Amino acid sequence: MSLFSIKSNGNLTCYGKRDYGKSYAMKKMIRYVSKYIPIFIYDIKHEYYGFPEIKDIRKVNFDVKKGAYRYRSRGTKEDFNLFCQIIYNAVIGNKKRRCIVVVDEVQKYVSTNAISKYKYFSDMVFMGRSYGLAVWCITQRPAKIDSSITSQSDVIISFKMDFRLDLDAVENYFDRDSVKNLNKWEFLVYESSKGVSKHGPL
Ligand SMILES: Nc1ncnc2c1ncn2[C@@H]1O[C@H](COP(=O)(O)OP(=O)(O)OP(=O)(O)O)[C@@H](O)[C@H]1O
Ligand SMILES: [Mg+2]
Repeated sequence: MSLFSIKSNGNLTCYGKRDYGKSYAMKKMIRYVSKYIPIFIYDIKHEYYGFPEIKDIRKVNFDVKKGAYRYRSRGTKEDFNLFCQIIYNAVIGNKKRRCIVVVDEVQKYVSTNAISKYKYFSDMVFMGRSYGLAVWCITQRPAKIDSSITSQSDVIISFKMDFRLDLDAVENYFDRDSVKNLNKWEFLVYESSKGVSKHGPL
């Protein structure tokens, strides 16, 4: 099974230790899925080179039907809120629009129990699906993000992790030893409808 055959219209979360291949895998997935649906990346580490940059989120044309676009985070909560607010309002106000929002390093904003501080991000995570809006979140530390992000995901991807608290945070979905024993660039995929599958490097 290819990673790209997973259901792409729901929320997705991706975990794993530093340098084990999360961003690499997500970039590949973004390239593939953005042939069919527009993807807006909130680029916290300024690493999503190769995707056209959005200079002003207020001026984005949300009628595009495909393509991936990166917005370089300004590093503040206000900026993250504004990004989420503009996309959420643009998509829920128009049935013909749909999109995916990607947030890599999501723990920098939506840490444990912090989702209520981000009204529009929270609305995306909880209600986006009914409006054609999905959220993909990426983090090294599942124990350090708001647990709603994981619980609202249809697809969960895990690269290797070995820290006890992170393994605790994902034990509903993955067997601890399977996560600990992954080699570099290998990953597990949990799909709510199908269970867990293991994948080699992309
Ligand atoms: N499947 C792969 N094949 C070849 N190179 C890969 C693969 N996966 C990752 N890499 C390379 O390994 C390095 C680390 O990958 P990546 O940046 O995706 O890690 P990460 O999990 O996002 O780390 P961090 O938590 O620090 O963001 C990068 O240089 C990337 O190009
Ligand atoms: Mg990364």
